[in-house]
Amino acid sequence: MYWALPSDLPRSGIREILDLALQTPRAIRLETGEPDFPPAPHILEGFVAASRTGHNRYTPTEGIPVLRQALADKIARVNQVSRLPEEILVTPGGLPALYLAFLGTAASGDESLVPDPGWPDYLGGLVSLGIKAIPYPLPPPPHYIPDLGELVRLVTPHTRAVVFNFPGNPTGAVPSPEELEHLVALAESQDLWIISDEVYDQIVYQGPALSPAGLAPDQTLCICSFSKTFALTGWRLGYLAGPHPAIASLTRAAMGTWSSGSEPLQYAGLAALTGPQSIVQTMRDSREPFICWSTSRPPVLLRGPSRSPCWRRSPWPSPRAVRSDAGLLARCGCRWPHRLPPWRKG
Ligand SMILES: Cc1ncc(COP(=O)(O)O)c(C=O)c1O
Repeated sequence: MYWALPSDLPRSGIREILDLALQTPRAIRLETGEPDFPPAPHILEGFVAASRTGHNRYTPTEGIPVLRQALADKIARVNQVSRLPEEILVTPGGLPALYLAFLGTAASGDESLVPDPGWPDYLGGLVSLGIKAIPYPLPPPPHYIPDLGELVRLVTPHTRAVVFNFPGNPTGAVPSPEELEHLVALAESQDLWIISDEVYDQIVYQGPALSPAGLAPDQTLCICSFSKTFALTGWRLGYLAGPHPAIASLTRAAMGTWSSGSEPLQYAGLAALTGPQSIVQTMRDSREPFICWSTSRPPVLLRGPSRSPCWRRSPWPSPRAVRSDAGLLARCGCRWPHRLPPWRKG
């Protein structure tokens, strides 16, 4: 019988190593962006109190109004963007928000530009929608800010959107205000949607991570999440902020998929936003001791399945999980072009 999804839909490399880590007793887990502390007590309490007081029902697809208002306040404070509650859609995590953004901005056969190196899970959503993921190379460290010339070179009549991810995963890069201005101007001149993945927006170390939406509000969809900031990765709460017509349209798409988010979870999100924010600072502060610890350790030699050492460049045509002599699990080789199945290469 006919099955529409391509049989070689790529498996997320992150899931590959996550599954391996879950089966590995005492694994030191560095494979996903997981804060290593539990959610703050007031957030847990927010969930329990909401459930105990009867908030266990369907909610509006867009999200409960009090949460959308609190999100508008947060976006103004942190991302320095003015959005009305009606311009925000609550989603079950940042990834579904990304999926909706991909869905709304390009059709099957169109192209969207994605950073390389970049978070590999963009690929699953784009490929399953039939959108061609076109990797744009990021200049070498320490800069990692997209090069305007490279971006323009990759734009074709089929390009519909560009994904920016600041602070970047895995690079951590944040552009200066001038660099951001140039990137936004480029997207505007090429008539591209900006899909701005801002899930790490509160884990910055020098100044705020400015959002492209501050410069091009009508052309930018911001993807934000509670996962990283509040150590809520397993709860699945995120949101999409953008111009009202886009949010209204994507809300209708969400109606036909998850219908509405968990009600007690949304109240927990409200507690996270309106309660003490010290957890956010605690997370930022935990970076220094980790860097001191990790740089004082001897380097770890990673070996692939054939016991060949893995260097900066992966010896394999596609990324795969590797294991060190000390039991460390990692993934090598996340260059995008190798990840594209032959039927999707640009
Ligand atoms: C760059 C980036 N974007 C989006 C996400 C999705 O986050 P979530 O779906 O947990 O909100 C992640 C998760 O690791 C990420 O690293």
